[in-house]
Amino acid sequence: MELPPRPTLFDFHGVSMTKYFTDNWENIQSFKARPDDILIATYPKAGTTWVSYILDLLYFGEPDCRSSVPLQERVPFLEISEPSRPKGKDLADQLPTAPRLIKTHLPVQFVPKSFWEQRSRIVYVARNAKDSAVSYFHFGRMNRVLPEPGDWSCFLQNFMQGKVVFGSWYEHVNTWWDQKQTYSNLHYMFYEDLIEDSGQEISRLCSFLGLSPTAEQRELVQAKVTFDNMKQNKVTNFSTVSMMNQSVSPFMRKGRVGDWKNHFTVSQNEQFEEDFKNKMKNTALVFRNEI
Ligand code: A3P
Repeated sequence: MELPPRPTLFDFHGVSMTKYFTDNWENIQSFKARPDDILIATYPKAGTTWVSYILDLLYFGEPDCRSSVPLQERVPFLEISEPSRPKGKDLADQLPTAPRLIKTHLPVQFVPKSFWEQRSRIVYVARNAKDSAVSYFHFGRMNRVLPEPGDWSCFLQNFMQGKVVFGSWYEHVNTWWDQKQTYSNLHYMFYEDLIEDSGQEISRLCSFLGLSPTAEQRELVQAKVTFDNMKQNKVTNFSTVSMMNQSVSPFMRKGRVGDWKNHFTVSQNEQFEEDFKNKMKNTALVFRNEI
């Protein structure tokens, strides 16, 4: 099967986007959220799949009838609209589960207004900028839904300027953080905390969502969501998605904090740090680049 060409980036209401995330815009904007919907919102590569699988298992376990359903069908990607796959918005509409778990990378100002009106709960996951950039670079190499990333130094400059799909990491994490100050149904969490103590982060998620799993259920969830198990698992490793070439770089790549050290040169790191301080000077948000 011939794969479509890589899309090009364009400015979409002030955010860099491609057609695969804007083509279905009117339908996405008129999405009818429900009060019990749970939106998992992230900047790309923050651990969306990890948190999606945790929530899916906490709510529904994995009975035989679901055990071979890929995660991308259990937790649809709201804004995706790419050739030869059902649109994320349609999959979300058709989800038979309650609650419906829905994933998005949209910046906060693009989220369909029904989520706010219905006061749906939202889990936002953030990851430090340096590891996000590295993970996004490798993801761009293997995923034809994204523009060609170029070499690492070119991609890093684009990342710093917000010239990547879904725009600026800095604006994304900050505006979602600001939203948390006024919208109480938003749980803001960090990839690094999940790596450090997944049990504690799962407990926090459960208390936000009002869930009380038994000790046995919790242990089962924790065992299923380790990096190694998710890497082997066809449900979570995206091995069935034709637009992704896992021989270029696997979707479940490293799963660590600090892999940026294997990519940034000393001068790239200095430039990045200075730019970071400037862009993040007005926020109380604190990120950990190592643990
Ligand atoms: P790396 O590329 O650094 O390995 P997303 O789901 O938002 O696209 O994020 C993907 C990133 O999360 C990848 O990072 C992937 O390896 C990592 N990830 C996914 N599941 C994980 C897990 N169970 N433990 C640790 N990292 C995980």
